Amino acid sequence: MNLKQLAAQKALEFVESDMVLGIGSGSTTACFVDLLGEKIASGRLRNVVGIPTSEVVARQACGLGIPLGALGEHPAIDLAVDGADEVDAQLDLIKGLGRALLREKVVEVHARRFVVIVDESKLVPRLGTKGALPVEIIKFEATAHIRWLGSLGCRAELWLEEDGAPIVTDNGNYLARCWFEDGIPDAYQLAQQLAYRPGIVEHGLFLGMASQVIVAGEEGIRILEARP
Ligand code: A5P
Repeated sequence: MNLKQLAAQKALEFVESDMVLGIGSGSTTACFVDLLGEKIASGRLRNVVGIPTSEVVARQACGLGIPLGALGEHPAIDLAVDGADEVDAQLDLIKGLGRALLREKVVEVHARRFVVIVDESKLVPRLGTKGALPVEIIKFEATAHIRWLGSLGCRAELWLEEDGAPIVTDNGNYLARCWFEDGIPDAYQLAQQLAYRPGIVEHGLFLGMASQVIVAGEEGIRILEARP
């Protein structure tokens, strides 16, 4: 079992029958969904409903026979499980390099408990030191949004597919990637700036949202708890 599977297996222990689950996106969550599907199929979990955060994970879950629903019928989520690209010591996160940050945030903000599953390579001293911050932007005047993002102390670029076409999200928007040379100096301030800018749909800073982070490492599993 690899580290992603190990973290996913630990998160599965938190799932009980009759729960409404937020189902994240990305390769670590895909391991969780596989295990969840097996447990449902074996009859050890009953009456679980998943709220998916991307078309990809919805297809995976459907294929495994996991019942899916929407926030319309299930306004409160008992438990959301998702991966992350970076996790700092306060359990603030960067997410979205799997391209699903908008739906992830929409779903996970409804969760009573949000459990993040990562391998230890995702732990960082400061957000933005490992990779880019993804930002979802509208297509209209995309160049202007990228230019504005570049004025925030980072190198900003439109995120492209391998064939050079802009990536289009499940929501029909584009994605930008913002690279901060020494990490993001103040993630809360940046989140505020991004929140109020027209043309910026959502960003990959998930601040104060995680309840727990399950970290799988060569030494085993650690569970980091959010401060109350
Ligand atoms: C998806 O948009 C992301 O937020 C993922 O949860 C994140 O990119 C982590 O992905 P991996 O589990 O594939 O590393």
